[in-house]
Amino acid sequence: MANINFRKSNILITGGMGYVGSFTCYRYFKQFKEKLLSIDNNSRSNKSSKKFCNNFKVDISNEKKVKKIILENNIKNIIHLASYTCVRESLRKSNFYKKNNLIKQKKFINIAKKSGVKKFIFSSSMSVYEKNKIKSNLSPYSKFKLEVEKFLVKKSDKDFQVIILRYPNISGAQKNGLLGDRNHKITRIFKTIFKTIIKNKILIIYANIKKKIYPIRNYAHVEDIAKINLKYLNKKKIFKKKNFELFNVTTNLNLSNHEILSGMEKLMKKKARILLKPVDKRENFYPFSKNDKKVNSIKIISNKSTLNNILISNLKWFKKIFKEI
Ligand SMILES: NC(=O)c1ccc[n+]([C@@H]2O[C@H](COP(=O)([O-])OP(=O)(O)OC[C@H]3O[C@@H](n4cnc5c(N)ncnc54)[C@H](O)[C@@H]3O)[C@@H](O)[C@H]2O)c1
Repeated sequence: MANINFRKSNILITGGMGYVGSFTCYRYFKQFKEKLLSIDNNSRSNKSSKKFCNNFKVDISNEKKVKKIILENNIKNIIHLASYTCVRESLRKSNFYKKNNLIKQKKFINIAKKSGVKKFIFSSSMSVYEKNKIKSNLSPYSKFKLEVEKFLVKKSDKDFQVIILRYPNISGAQKNGLLGDRNHKITRIFKTIFKTIIKNKILIIYANIKKKIYPIRNYAHVEDIAKINLKYLNKKKIFKKKNFELFNVTTNLNLSNHEILSGMEKLMKKKARILLKPVDKRENFYPFSKNDKKVNSIKIISNKSTLNNILISNLKWFKKIFKEI
């Protein structure tokens, strides 16, 4: 990242107080000794992030306030992370997701474009994708991500260039125990496994019970995703003929919940009590194919995105915030 002059770029992050946002802000802060500006309504935020960003507690759909923040700070680049983030929650609360993850997103994109933002990075999800194609039977979470992708592609032009990053599943915490996932409004698998083992509760694992197969997910360590966010914000020669680029972001780490459970049991030296339930038809079994050449991809090769590293760092973090979870 040597040739960056980020400070002249005037960057805004949304969701800077969330999980991925806090790590992105931390990385920026560590490198430039400056806090990123953030817009986050704190509906699902991580109080540890306060140290690393200057957050406006504002909703992304608040036209008057968002416009004022962008214009007063001469914002030209946005890393847009603010949204609700749980596939399973969206299956139960589809309207709730529609409002926040579709309607408000479009409104925010329009405000950003009208206010002179030049480069816009959108955090989409690999959950829209399965085996070389867009999945046909999408959850509301994934459906709205895809709709926002299409909306952004339509809005993109030479003055409003768009990068869409489809993240894989993200997990892990900092080794030093300073930051980790603190969104307790949703269930994320590593935390759920930890919690049920420690509290001796029943852990529900979703599977194709007849065939005894478990959905596989691709995982990245959150620090690797924070790095990608800043790297792509800075990349100059990214747009070839179009004014948008879309990337599937993947790692070599493919895991089922069952494998995560086994790893956690080993580390915690305690067995979980599990109950198998059938998977919702809208969930993917295999997220993507290794031979996929149709979509640009960013392959993360990193010693951070390993099961062991994610497990150990998570465990340290969960023990630290144990009273909250
Ligand atoms: N965590 C993952 O595994 C994962 C995987 C794929 C994609 N993503 C995407 O990455 C982005 C960040 O995910 P995360 O894990 O950090 O989520 P998070 O829930 O931890 O953080 C999201 C932040 O956005 C804020 N927010 C939500 N709606 C808002 C609104 N209307 N106005 C202002 N702020 C709002 C919340 O308060 C929260 O702090 C999301 O867009 C998510 O869909 C995450």
